[in-house]
Amino acid sequence: MEQKFNVHALVWQGQQLAVLDQRQLPEIVHYELYVTAPDVAQAIKTMQVRGAPAIGIAAAYAVALSVQQHYQPDNSVWRQQVAAEIKLLAASRPTAVNLFWALELMQKKLTQVEGSPVEAVIQLAQDIHQQDIAANLKMGALGADILRDAQGLLTHCNAGALATGGYGTALGVIRSAYQRQARHIYAGETRPWLQGARLTVWELAEDDIPSTLIADSAAAMLMKSGQVDWIIVGADRIAANGDVANKIGTYSLAVLAKYHGVKLMVVAPTSTIDFAMQSGDDIEIEQRAANEFLPQCYAQADSLIDAWNPVFDVTPAELVSVIVTERGAVFNPIDKGVGELNNE
Ligand code: MRU
Repeated sequence: MEQKFNVHALVWQGQQLAVLDQRQLPEIVHYELYVTAPDVAQAIKTMQVRGAPAIGIAAAYAVALSVQQHYQPDNSVWRQQVAAEIKLLAASRPTAVNLFWALELMQKKLTQVEGSPVEAVIQLAQDIHQQDIAANLKMGALGADILRDAQGLLTHCNAGALATGGYGTALGVIRSAYQRQARHIYAGETRPWLQGARLTVWELAEDDIPSTLIADSAAAMLMKSGQVDWIIVGADRIAANGDVANKIGTYSLAVLAKYHGVKLMVVAPTSTIDFAMQSGDDIEIEQRAANEFLPQCYAQADSLIDAWNPVFDVTPAELVSVIVTERGAVFNPIDKGVGELNNE
């Protein structure tokens, strides 16, 4: 029962990739079909597909599309064409480390295969996708064990099936916990892009799970009321010391949680951990265009009004109660970081 999810962000269709256009949700459920890597890079950049693991999986399929398009058995020009498109994919979004992790795996495969690489890269992209779902199911069960009978759960952004290969990280834990017993699930709307309001509550409803949407600014009041036991979020990149980059506003929630005695669970596969990065201070934070939330009427050339739009922030390890991965959970990551999860 814990394995149910009805929403799929990415569907491989043999020789093309179907991408659910998340910009149009929840009003319109529309899949865009892609056969070239540059088009997938654009889909990542423009947030048709978003969420760290889903970005990595989309990029893996994009490399497969690139090889499928350019491979020629009788010369090696295709290698340069694929390398150029991998570079393009790497430039699509900077913060989610899953993107670089997946591209590296695909690149490595290309150096190993003899003969036609087409089947091998398609297979690897599909394996990356399936392994992500398997990791999410594992984390779901592990996270739900840790929550025990906690009643009030607040999540931020969308770390669900839409943001991953399927099932979700933070939302996977919430799904698993809810299957065991009913809980009150709160979702922050997540300004400015409204991943919570447009995606999370919709995704939960598609699986018949009820939720309550809150304005981001209502989080302190909600915590003070005693209705939240845990905040459960995903991550875009976790540094070796346990600092966590995630959707802008996560840091604010973590500070509020500390003040109100609420615990903070971060759920992420180990593909989201950047073991080579010592501290969250070194994580590049993506800045997006002012017009994502600046009212159009302020946008003239001579306007005195601009907007600052960092789309991630870094929560220091000292504010994190537990990091749940498919390789196990690290409690109080401030003590020793997450190095023990590195099995390479
Ligand atoms: O800008 P987005 O929507 O790609 O940001 C997504 C998040 O911050 C998620 O919380 C994170 O990627 C984890 S998704 C399992």
